[in-house]
Amino acid sequence: MNYQPKLNRYDDMEYRKCGNSGLKVPAISLGLYRNFGEVESYQTAKKMVQTAFDLGITHFDLANNYGEPSGSAEETFGKILHKELSGYRDEVLISTKAGYDMWPGPYGDFGSRKYMLASLDQSLTRLGLDYIDIYYSHRYDPETPIEETVGALDTVVKQGKALYVGVSNYPSDVTQQAAKLFRELKTPFIVHQPQYSMFLRGAEGDLFPVLEEEGLGAIVYQPLYQGLLTTKYQNGIPSDSRVAKKVDSISEDQVTKESLEQVKRLKVVADQRNQSVAQLALSWVLRNRTVASALIGASRPEQVEENVKALANLDFSDEELANIDEILTK
Ligand SMILES: NC(=O)c1ccc[n+]([C@@H]2O[C@H](COP(=O)([O-])OP(=O)(O)OC[C@H]3O[C@@H](n4cnc5c(N)ncnc54)[C@H](OP(=O)(O)O)[C@@H]3O)[C@@H](O)[C@H]2O)c1
Repeated sequence: MNYQPKLNRYDDMEYRKCGNSGLKVPAISLGLYRNFGEVESYQTAKKMVQTAFDLGITHFDLANNYGEPSGSAEETFGKILHKELSGYRDEVLISTKAGYDMWPGPYGDFGSRKYMLASLDQSLTRLGLDYIDIYYSHRYDPETPIEETVGALDTVVKQGKALYVGVSNYPSDVTQQAAKLFRELKTPFIVHQPQYSMFLRGAEGDLFPVLEEEGLGAIVYQPLYQGLLTTKYQNGIPSDSRVAKKVDSISEDQVTKESLEQVKRLKVVADQRNQSVAQLALSWVLRNRTVASALIGASRPEQVEENVKALANLDFSDEELANIDEILTK
């Protein structure tokens, strides 16, 4: 039977303005960095997107290099969109990025105009779309003048190939510089995508104050620290977990005695709030109003369901926050 999205899908999701823009994003968004490549199960990928959409998750985040092999997550999402969600393009917000290694030679990564423009054309082909909602520069390129990368992002908006633009992993001072240039060009630059979680709080230092000052939203990635901010590693490394799969960005030596102990203590706080540790970790990043959305990954639909339930309890007492700070600084 054809998939029919749930009629009540918008009832329980919280939508937040992305910075000072008019764009609302769901407080929880789904990223397709892992588990959506050609080597993964299409059925599971499809079910995760449908589950997310049914729960009011309208935002799906991609990059040119996501999937195994690179580019295949965009192909998978394009297929899901056209086969399962056809007719719903205007109800979803799709982002993609360029910045990391994508093809051989000097024009296949970083931030030159040559790469940024060619990569978006390739992404649109893989996705089967005429335009993307948000196009990001995936990382700052110290060898390319910031004016050039900003100019390339402005061009894609003027070409009608992107509605909004953003930057990811940019240091705060370059973000501020870029914001000034975008303002002069009147480009809809609305978002920064930094890494942020209980285990990685660097963005709280310089970056969040700059985003606030510039009226930019933060769509924060890896709020679960790739699964370490759940209880799944408390009794060893499950064979179907990301750590066991030995994908490049997380390994067994990150599952330390200290982090396991911190999660154990966070579980006590989570229990008192009737949350799982994953839900606590998501509520905690969303306590910060600069954060427009927490960008989660998942390997199965049930994780999406569990994670969205975090929204049932976003309030923290001062005592809870102090307790969490104390656990995290140990
Ligand atoms: N801009 C950037 O440079 C950048 C970099 C990385 C990611 N991102 C974006 O951020 C998104 C999220 O990244 P991520 O997937 O690495 O981070 P994450 O959300 O911190 O981790 C997701 C992983 O945690 C596990 N998990 C999720 N919910 C769970 C639950 N309720 N219980 C137990 N385990 C759970 C799953 O791993 P298992 O396989 O162990 O089940 C899942 O794949 C990406 O898809 C991408 O869109 C952006």
